[in-house]
Amino acid sequence: MKIDVHFEATAPLPDLTGRVVVVIDVLRATSSVVEALVNGAQGVYPAPSTEEAIKLASSLGREDTILCGEARGLKIEGFDLGNSPREFSAEVVAGKRLVMSTTNGTRAFFLVEDAVRVLICSFMNLSAVAAVAMEADSLIIVCAGMEGLFSLDDAVCAGALVQRIRAAADVELNDAAMGAVEMALTFRINTHFLASTWTGKRLVEIGLSEDLEICAEIDCYSAVPEMENRVIQLRSSDAGSSGPDA
Ligand code: MLT
Repeated sequence: MKIDVHFEATAPLPDLTGRVVVVIDVLRATSSVVEALVNGAQGVYPAPSTEEAIKLASSLGREDTILCGEARGLKIEGFDLGNSPREFSAEVVAGKRLVMSTTNGTRAFFLVEDAVRVLICSFMNLSAVAAVAMEADSLIIVCAGMEGLFSLDDAVCAGALVQRIRAAADVELNDAAMGAVEMALTFRINTHFLASTWTGKRLVEIGLSEDLEICAEIDCYSAVPEMENRVIQLRSSDAGSSGPDA
């Protein structure tokens, strides 16, 4: 199988028709999506902007729709939740629809919506995503990055994903994929590593260092969220078995 990695979602992406795409935004959008869906959220509705999120939430009906997201890492004024995976507990999100707006992650989801499948990956569900992704003939791994810049946390996650696929399938890698694998071999995935990254340092500065612990957890879930028609949900085969690996 052919695997291409793109380090910034805003970089020109190839034609996605017929291709399977994995989106990665370790800090924190894809980690939050996984946590919310594992805790029973009905679906996550990404929005390209705060204004669009507010419009979408009211059109869906605010009684069982939660507005969540961040600007400069902090909860957006008037929203119900920020973008910390710790906020998406079962008590808060079970049965709810989440309309989410973030700086990079939710915009990346829109950039890849033409793909035949869009899978959502973080360190928390890495091996589960690898198992599904290796069914594809051609895979594109898109890192959300940080405002159009390279983000090491996403690149290492992409490399770790490629490693897991390469362990079980013959692969042809583009240069970025080869580079990502070398970064995954170099950096040990833990809270300390995430705190050393640009995004990690910013989260620590704004008092959200505890988010690094949950985002650094590897394979604590076997759920593979998938986006269809601009809604991210757990695949039917995941429902009920996506919690902490038995
Ligand atoms: C993003 O989408 O830019 C990140 O998830 C932002 C964050 O969570 O702080």
